[in-house]
Amino acid sequence: MKILLFGRGGQVGWELQRSLSVLGELVALDFDAAHNVDGLCGDFANLAGLAETIRQLKPDAIVNAAAHTAVDKAETEPELAQTINALAPAVLAQEATKLGAWLVHYSTDYVFDGSGTQARNEQDATSPLSVYGRTKLEGEQAVASCPKHLTFRTSWVYAARGGNFAKTMLRLACERELLTVIDDQFGAPTSAELLADVTAHALRTALRQPEVAGLYHCVAGGETSWHGYARYVLAQAQRLGWTLKAGPDQVAATPTSNYPTPAQRPLNSRLDTTRLQSAFGLTLPHWQQGVARMLTEITGKQ
Ligand SMILES: NC(=O)c1ccc[n+]([C@@H]2O[C@H](COP(=O)([O-])OP(=O)(O)OC[C@H]3O[C@@H](n4cnc5c(N)ncnc54)[C@H](OP(=O)(O)O)[C@@H]3O)[C@@H](O)[C@H]2O)c1
Repeated sequence: MKILLFGRGGQVGWELQRSLSVLGELVALDFDAAHNVDGLCGDFANLAGLAETIRQLKPDAIVNAAAHTAVDKAETEPELAQTINALAPAVLAQEATKLGAWLVHYSTDYVFDGSGTQARNEQDATSPLSVYGRTKLEGEQAVASCPKHLTFRTSWVYAARGGNFAKTMLRLACERELLTVIDDQFGAPTSAELLADVTAHALRTALRQPEVAGLYHCVAGGETSWHGYARYVLAQAQRLGWTLKAGPDQVAATPTSNYPTPAQRPLNSRLDTTRLQSAFGLTLPHWQQGVARMLTEITGKQ
């Protein structure tokens, strides 16, 4: 099987390079053609180049980890966000359909308005609050036109590689005696590792059982707020032997209304993963498990 991966340098793309490599021949493309074999196009702003690359490689599966994920910046560059998050996935869907290939794509809790406290399921009505959310919704709708598609909506993604919320909290806790963190947005921190592993299992299942095609919510188990997440990170860091100026009890809670941002965030990012777990026979571990593992990895301490 030949798999074509887009967005190899992102959090999820990096982990997919590991998890997909056992399924067959993997061609992993970067945004920048200069970094790709034979100058193949992985730039989602170049729609013709993307189509040409897919026609040339004729993959059995396309996995799309590329996206315009700068949520606030998207408010001031909606056309670019739409091209990358919606028009490029539409090209992938057209080309995958012509080839009879599988198309794997990722979407977001930002397709919902975040009202209420219930976990959303895949049938619940969407109502994005931001350019990012609207363009991601358009993208997942385009991907759904490909009969052999798997779309995973996720939330609060982190990875050991690159910057992330946990690393920022650790840095600030070493510098300051008090941190202030939002406590009225709820979701589940989800590791790029988990998403990549689920993707490999799901794609393997889909090759044998094409009827599993569709949209799935994929997040780690349990829930927390950013405030709860920060407190957990600092408590774990202290357990691992870090000396912090601010411990978990020095994290003050504040509402989102005190931190206005260009893009409005959903307050309720809870996603119901029942459909994914039953369709693929998977168990999604509690969010704390992945965060503890990442902290051990980045601190180099057991
Ligand atoms: N991060 C989250 O919290 C989150 C939450 C819910 C859903 N998701 C979804 O999960 C998926 C993976 O996200 P992630 O966390 O891995 O995001 P990420 O780390 O920001 O990765 C996205 C990748 O897309 C690349 N990219 C940007 N513009 C591009 C272009 N024009 N052509 C090709 N590639 C381009 C980025 O390159 P540069 O880094 O060089 O810009 C980056 O490598 C996305 O579909 C995202 O919408 C993410």
